Amino acid sequence: MATRTLGIIMNGVTGRMGLNQHLVRSILAIRQQGGVVLPNGDRVMPDPILVGRNAEKIAALAAQYGVARHTTDLSAALKNPNDTVFFDAATTQMRADLVTQAIEAGKHIYCEKPVADSLDKAIAIAKLAKQKGVKNGVVQDKLFLPGLRKIAMLRDAGFFGRMLSVRGEFGYWVFEGDWGQPAQRPSWNYKKAEGGGIILDMLCHWRYVLDNLFGKVQAVSCLGATHIGSRVDESGKTYTADTDDAAYATFQLEGGVIAHINSSWATRLRREDLVTFQVDGTHGSAVAGLTRCVTQARVNTPRPVWNPDVAQTMKFNEQWEEVPDNVTYENGFKIQWEDFIRHVVAGTPWKYDLVEGAKGVQLAELGLKSWAERRWLDVPALSI
Ligand SMILES: NC(=O)c1ccc[n+]([C@@H]2O[C@H](COP(=O)([O-])OP(=O)(O)OC[C@H]3O[C@@H](n4cnc5c(N)ncnc54)[C@H](O)[C@@H]3O)[C@@H](O)[C@H]2O)c1
Repeated sequence: MATRTLGIIMNGVTGRMGLNQHLVRSILAIRQQGGVVLPNGDRVMPDPILVGRNAEKIAALAAQYGVARHTTDLSAALKNPNDTVFFDAATTQMRADLVTQAIEAGKHIYCEKPVADSLDKAIAIAKLAKQKGVKNGVVQDKLFLPGLRKIAMLRDAGFFGRMLSVRGEFGYWVFEGDWGQPAQRPSWNYKKAEGGGIILDMLCHWRYVLDNLFGKVQAVSCLGATHIGSRVDESGKTYTADTDDAAYATFQLEGGVIAHINSSWATRLRREDLVTFQVDGTHGSAVAGLTRCVTQARVNTPRPVWNPDVAQTMKFNEQWEEVPDNVTYENGFKIQWEDFIRHVVAGTPWKYDLVEGAKGVQLAELGLKSWAERRWLDVPALSI
């Protein structure tokens, strides 16, 4: 069986996501396993070129991970006909411009979410990609989490009966940085002018999670908040955190399912995981975290009694049954990369394109508008 190489221009690999999930856990892991297997048995070996602003930093990174090619000149990289894919995990605000340049240069596109910082830009790049006939994709990693894959399996097996509601809890405490512990997330996330805000960050995730697992999102009501107004940045400087760090959002889905998801960087965990989803259906309920998922069928549903005079004797958390790990769940970012590479090289089916990415930005914009105008908003179909 033949092995061919696929040249990939990787931008933003000095960042958290670009380095950990995309370079190390995906592209380098794929190289280590001997490439991506195509349906005909041939293999594709990704051959990345790392792009960064700082020559020394990007050279050091390339040396550390044994990547042969690196550059600070993106325009020159885009001119190399052997590098047919452009990937971006750098700052959200520059994404649409960079993706536009890459599409104009005839490259296939793969990028982080949000695909742009406004719906107009998101639609423009999706349209341009279609016009130029380049293949394109956006990271939709949450769908590949073992916990949510188990939810999808339960749904496909008919476990829930008629789905009624979904309750999501996302978040954890992000340290302010001013009392002996540095913040554990980049400061741009808390500045409006730099593309920050939890609504833009998380509602684009919730769009594809809800659309693909529970029903197409039809309407949204969202209340944002800036709970922590002052934080300390990477260099120890105090700044005003002027954008939303929590979002309390309700969604109406096709089929009558009601979803409510709280997203917060100002909450402390007393639950199984950093994100949990509880799905209630007529025949059963399930609660999924990042990896685990527990279920309770209608016949196993206990009958607790409301009695404030007596301490609770039932241990509710122990009344659920674990969905076993019968299959191996690989890193979701890597699985999606492999699917995208097969799509680019062998034309295999692919649904997570820039149009899907634009839907995420659309929901984030509507969430922000709903908050500003204090009202429910319908989610119209996008025409791209
Ligand atoms: N899929 C997910 O779960 C997920 C999670 C976190 C972040 N993200 C997305 O990934 C992207 C990066 O987020 P992060 O948390 O890794 O941020 P980060 O701050 O760690 O990394 C940002 C990257 O962008 C580069 N960059 C910043 N400003 C730049 C400029 N002016 N010119 C060129 N490059 C510049 C930095 O050098 C760095 O490589 C964002 O779009 C974010 O929304 C996705």
